Amino acid sequence: MVKLSLPEHVAIIMDGNGRWAKKRGLPRIAGHKAGMNNLQTIATAASNLGIKALTVYAFSTENWKRPSSEVNFLMRLPIDFFDTFMPNLMQNQVRIMITGFIEQLPAKTLAVCQRAIEQTKNNQGMILNFAFNYGAQSDIINAVKLYCQDLQQQKVQLAQLNEQTFSSYLKSAQLADLQNPDLLIRTSGEQRLSNFYLWELAYAEMIFVDEYWPDYSVVDLKRDLQRYSQRDRRFGGLDKKG
Ligand code: IPE
Ligand code: IPE
Ligand code: MG
Repeated sequence: MVKLSLPEHVAIIMDGNGRWAKKRGLPRIAGHKAGMNNLQTIATAASNLGIKALTVYAFSTENWKRPSSEVNFLMRLPIDFFDTFMPNLMQNQVRIMITGFIEQLPAKTLAVCQRAIEQTKNNQGMILNFAFNYGAQSDIINAVKLYCQDLQQQKVQLAQLNEQTFSSYLKSAQLADLQNPDLLIRTSGEQRLSNFYLWELAYAEMIFVDEYWPDYSVVDLKRDLQRYSQRDRRFGGLDKKG
């Protein structure tokens, strides 16, 4: 059997929770709850398949525009997620990271996220990285500001600024050599980035699928990994046949 090339870092824009619920005559928050449970299923499968990092877009800097009842529910979801799934995450050696403007989170949500990061920091398995209160444009502006501070304080030199040194100022830099996803999957039929990882996805393969996130199954994940393995990643060069 030919060994498939597996992406090291997969990113998922988990979209369609609201429409999933509406289709069933349920309130939108029921979709978010189902989405949360599905994340555990997909994260476990990804970890078992040997994916090294899974980044999931869970809340964007624009999602604060939603009704406060929905925002409040979404802010409580990490509490519920870690309460329910921490034993399982530990068993699978999953390491939690959060990429986003976490200082703006409600105190309880922030505390729970920080505890999960702390509890799992020595785990050796897959990184499960939540893009939570994340927006790529804000992240890039923030990186520019941090860089300019370093420049003013003469910690860096302008001549040394390049793609690699700039990357280190982005929030995703905590993933080190796994910073850039190899594969992006977006569920629910929408074909846009919605301000996710504008820099990091420069050479990612993208797959847009119609399933709503709570319906996205392990079979779908395996199908999409198979599709990834058939892509020819050229990075601006020529394919292997020349
Ligand atoms: C994705 O599902 C989850 C978040 C954005 C938090 P949506 O809530 O966007 O679901 P749809 O797109 O309205 O169906
Ligand atoms: C993107 O989905 C954000 C998350 C999945 C967390 P949205 O549902 O917020 O994106 P738009 O508004 O359809 O672009
Ligand atoms: Mg949506």
